[in-house]
Amino acid sequence: MTGLVVRPLTERDLADADRINRIAFGTFFGLENPMNFRGDGEVVTGRFRNNPDGAFAADIDGRLVACGFVMDWGSVGIFGPLTVDVDHWGRGIARSMMDAMTGYMDDRGFDLQGLFTHPQSAKHIRLYEAYDFRMQRITAVMAKEIDLSGTDAGPIALFSGLADPEKTATLAACTGICQSVFPGLDLTTEILSIEAHGFGDTVLVLERGEIVGFACCHHGAGSESGSAQVLVKFAAVRSGQDASRFFELLLDTCERFTAALKVNRVVAGTNTGRTQAYETMLAAGYRTWMNGIAMHKTGNACYDLPGRFVIDDWR
Ligand SMILES: CC(C)(COP(=O)(O)OP(=O)(O)OC[C@H]1O[C@@H](n2cnc3c(N)ncnc32)[C@H](O)[C@@H]1OP(=O)(O)O)[C@@H](O)C(=O)NCCC(=O)NCCS
Repeated sequence: MTGLVVRPLTERDLADADRINRIAFGTFFGLENPMNFRGDGEVVTGRFRNNPDGAFAADIDGRLVACGFVMDWGSVGIFGPLTVDVDHWGRGIARSMMDAMTGYMDDRGFDLQGLFTHPQSAKHIRLYEAYDFRMQRITAVMAKEIDLSGTDAGPIALFSGLADPEKTATLAACTGICQSVFPGLDLTTEILSIEAHGFGDTVLVLERGEIVGFACCHHGAGSESGSAQVLVKFAAVRSGQDASRFFELLLDTCERFTAALKVNRVVAGTNTGRTQAYETMLAAGYRTWMNGIAMHKTGNACYDLPGRFVIDDWR
């Protein structure tokens, strides 16, 4: 396309990128005022700051018309969101962005390249299939209403409450849990980003003093969740014996964390290939409000397996 330049996104682009992102999704979902998409939540700034190397922009004649991000979770690279200015849809801009973004992902050498998209949209699936992503199982984005009439939420171990040496040990323990889920998976950046920006907290699940699970919980204006709910962006428990019990404890801890904030809704998604995690969430009262589909470039199930107790939806 004439005049189109794809380049790295910079700090200066953030306000325009956020506007493009909201209007693109708000339009796709049919909102009366597309700018209201995601309320006071935000993804653009956080994703840029967490991995500037994976943040891309497209300009036409010096005006921003698209932005896209890649999350770096160690051996796992998650593509998205990619959004194009609605006035420029259908002109091949997404394809130009895909060239740059998948080039970055290939060079970075992620073992798993994945994304979340909308299975009902032939346009989306076709776009990603052209870059060798393949449809896997449905990812259920679920939510549970939290009863705030109870009394005390009880003690909750939080990353923010730890002294610095404990934080170092806790990050190592969380990485160990991730390793039990998928080799090289590493959520350190997400945990530190929540801490640095005050985007909520990372909830810890302990068994006899040992960390057996953790949940990166976004909450508040400017976080990926917004202030009306808590979003469990990523959570996992140690795989193996007792994983099912640890996962029930983790769900309960996330709900108590939500109640302690006086918020009555917790959002958590999981891929339905993680059959035991999905069934446990259904039994605990979580209900799907949006289905997406996971697409993997590597084409196999990776950690979307029955015994992997993981929450993440990759949106
Ligand atoms: C999805 C989105 C990024 C696509 O951007 P775009 O610049 O319009 O896409 P392109 O013009 O590069 O087209 C990409 C593919 O979709 C096809 N396409 C475009 N409009 C289409 C339509 N109405 N129906 C079917 N296919 C369509 C194009 O033909 C192209 O496929 P092809 O090259 O095989 O022909 C853009 O519509 C958007 O921002 N949507 C809202 C946010 C969103 O859903 N982002 C993705 C989240 S997973």
